[in-house]
This record gives sequence, structure tokens and C-alpha cells, in this order.
Amino acid sequence: MGRRKVRMVSNISVIDVADRGKAIGRCEEGEIYIVDKAVPGDNVNVQFTKKKKGVKQGIVKSYNSLSDKRVEAFCEHFGSCGGCKWQNMGYESQLFYKHKQVKDALTRIAKVDAAEVLPIQGCKQEREYRNKLEYSFSTQRWLTDKELKSDEIFENKNALGFHPAGSYSKVVDVTRCHLQDDRSNQIRNFIRTYAAENNLAYFDYKSHNGFLRNMIVRNTSLDQWMLIMSFFKEDREAREMLLDGLADKFPFITSLQYVINGKRNDTIMDQDIICYHGEPIIIEQLGDIKYRIGPKSFFQTNSLQAKVLYDTTMEFAGLQQGETLYDLYTGIGSIALYASGSCKKVIGIEEVAPAIENAKENAALNEIDNCEFFAADVKDILNKEFIEEHGKIDVLITDPPRAGMHKDVTMTILEAEPNRIVYVSCNAATQARDISLLKAKYDHKLSQPVDMFPHTHHIENVALLTLKT
Ligand SMILES: C[S@@+](CC[C@H](N)C(=O)[O-])C[C@H]1O[C@@H](n2cnc3c(N)ncnc32)[C@H](O)[C@@H]1O
Repeated sequence: MGRRKVRMVSNISVIDVADRGKAIGRCEEGEIYIVDKAVPGDNVNVQFTKKKKGVKQGIVKSYNSLSDKRVEAFCEHFGSCGGCKWQNMGYESQLFYKHKQVKDALTRIAKVDAAEVLPIQGCKQEREYRNKLEYSFSTQRWLTDKELKSDEIFENKNALGFHPAGSYSKVVDVTRCHLQDDRSNQIRNFIRTYAAENNLAYFDYKSHNGFLRNMIVRNTSLDQWMLIMSFFKEDREAREMLLDGLADKFPFITSLQYVINGKRNDTIMDQDIICYHGEPIIIEQLGDIKYRIGPKSFFQTNSLQAKVLYDTTMEFAGLQQGETLYDLYTGIGSIALYASGSCKKVIGIEEVAPAIENAKENAALNEIDNCEFFAADVKDILNKEFIEEHGKIDVLITDPPRAGMHKDVTMTILEAEPNRIVYVSCNAATQARDISLLKAKYDHKLSQPVDMFPHTHHIENVALLTLKT
């Protein structure tokens, strides 16, 4: 069998950003390629790889010229780590393209007037903005191009850090990450040294063995810290020595927890998480509202921008004291509680039962008694009978996951005719799809993109829809 011919395409002008941190390029003949590792304004030569959904994909092999939007990436792990893919583009340009993404989706899919998309709210803190990071232990370190080309022999391939894009078993050994307060680095680096000194085995994703598996670090603006250590199997002596060492070395950790996760996948959502030292929760505060965050609770990962997001949501909702608000996909009741002081009552719906427990605890913590929370799939619970029982929806806030709302939910909302809908979304395409359906009865008034994740392609958008008169 002959070898497959490598097809190179020269002089591709990179013209825009694409999904997942990739870019859109156009060759001289006008054909479009989706390429990796490029910034709009670059001119590149690529190796054609495959077609995906009819669009050609390519790997950049060399650069003819570099974009003036490029900046030097500040992280030593940039390029290997699957995280901040846009770090080599200036922040102003990042904001430009994020805004464009929202505007393009809304105008193209939902036929919204571009003038209704307000200028993007950037994040004042471009580094150390995350309140949660999950690191993985792996016996298969991701070797950089430089390491692969060197003559060095790597005997110890243990790595503690992040998976590179597209690899579930390999891990980039991270020595410094800029996404969270530096104390997160100190904890992780201490564990790496401790594990080496005490011969603690890293998790082997292929043979499915080892001891140290994952670690999750969460912190809040009240400077409370949670560390969850995930072990593959129980070794009480080794576990307790490590946890005692962590408690001693890092007294700022207010909640030290662990889990024994012997399953095939890394998720700990279905596991018992045990509080070893300190409190089982940490507390975050946005405005006047305090939130208890447990090890399984979802909370917006950028607290600073969460406040901007919620303030925008409140402004768009324009709540009146006599009104009833429904907060769909409420999580731990974050928006519901934030809004509760501005209206008569709030109905919050969320499918994760422990999150609803947190929402109820959060209401009690804040002495809020006008919120009711329900654990169910929105599509199953939100119907005519439910609305008749709990009161007409005056204002509806919806903040669904990336997939957007189920069509049945959209149909129920159209029947219920709330006066105003505030649609918070982390996926401009599905939001635009849902808005195009809601436009049967609603006008899109305004959209406010908010950047929660500098140096990534992710963007949040808050849209205000009002019932047509
Ligand atoms: C983007 S988060 C928003 C959470 C919350 N509004 C906040 O600001 O923290 C989406 C939430 O929807 C929940 N969820 C996903 N699918 C759902 C469904 N079909 N029905 C109810 N809740 C769902 C998730 O568990 C998650 O808590």
C-alpha cells in the first residue's frame, strides 16, 4: 500500500476566530480552512488533515507573516496546556472577537439588529480570575516539542497539571498557572514534591492504577479555600500523612476534603466526599448575598465577573416589588437569591438535587423566605399546571447549560407569556437558536456580552426579550 500523500496549502490568510480556540483561514482560491495555533491577521502554510462537517481542517506548519494582534504569551505552559488558547492575542483583540462571536450568532441565527448588542464588558482582572481549578495526576507526562526533539531520556514521566487539548491520559506538568491565586500553585507544587519524596504513585490512565488521581482547589473572595484530594484507592496511612501535611503547611485551607474514586472516570459528583479538616463548605459573597459552596456545588468560576453578570441580569429584569420571578437552571439558587429582594417571590428550578439543597441552605443563611426551589428537569416540571400552582410568571430568567433550552421549554415559555425574559448564556449559537424561536412573541431589546474567561474563546451573553404588545 502506498503512503498517503501529504497535502500542503500555502498562503492562507487567517481572517477570523472559530470555535474551540481555533481560527478561520482563507486560501488564495477562496477555500475556507479551520486551523489551529493561528491568530487573525497571520498568513500561514497548513497541512490539510480532514474534513469535519464539510469544512476543511488544517495544521499550521509555518508562518509567512505574523498578525499585529499577537502578543507574547505570559505562561510558560502556553501551547502545551489545553487552557488559555488565546493568550497569544492582545486582550483588546480577544474582546473584539468575543463581541463579534455574539453579534454574528445573534444577527445570523436570530436576525437580531446588531445595534442591540452592547459593547462587551471586559474583565478587570485578566489573571488569577478563577475560583476553581482541577489538576490531574498522570504517569504519562505530555512532552513538549522541545523535549521530544532533545536527546534527553525521560524515565520519570509523572505529571501533575492539566490535560492537553484532546488527550484524556496525558498531563502537562504545570509548575505555575496564572488562572488562580498563586497559593493554588504552592499547594500543587508542595504535593508534587511530597509525592516524590514519599514515593506516592500517580494515576495511570491506561492500566487504571495508582494512588493520587485528581485535586480540586476552590477559593472565594472572602479568602476561604477548599482542597479536595481524589485518590484512586484507599491507603489510610499514606492518605492521612499527606492530608495532615497539607493542613499543617497551608493553614489558610478552611475546608480539606478527600474522596476515594475507584471508578473509570474522574468525576466525583456521584462519590462520597469526606471532610477531613475544617468546614465541609466555603462561603462566597456577591453583593449582600452569601453562598455556601459545597464540594459538588456549581458556582460561576469567576466571582468578580459573576457580580457583573448578575448586576446586568438584574438591570435587564427590571423587577418590581409585586412581581413573580422564575429562575430556570438556578444551580445553587445564585441568581434567584440575588434577585429575591427586588420582587414578591422567586421560583428556582434545577435538576441537580444537592444543588437545590444548597439553594435552600443559602436562602436560610441569608434569611430569605420568598424563594421556593424545585429539583427537576425544567422540561419535565415547567408546565401549565405548575405555573397555575406557583403563580403567573411576570419575569423569567433562564441560564441553561451550553446546549441551550429544550424546545419544549421554549414552547412552555411562549405559552406562559412572561412580560420579560432575561436569557443568560455561555453559548451564543444555542442562545441565538432559542431566541429565534422566542421571537414568535418577543422582541430582542438588548444583549450584553460579559467576558468571564480572559485568554479563552468562551463568552457569556445576557439578552433581554420583551413580550410584543
Ligand atoms: C450555566 S449553569 C447556571 C447556574 C446558575 N444560574 C448560576 O448562575 O450559578 C446551568 C445549570 O443548569 C443545570 N441544568 C442542566 N440541565 C438542566 C435541566 N435539563 N433542567 C434543570 N437544570 C439543568 C445545571 O446543573 C447547572 O446548575
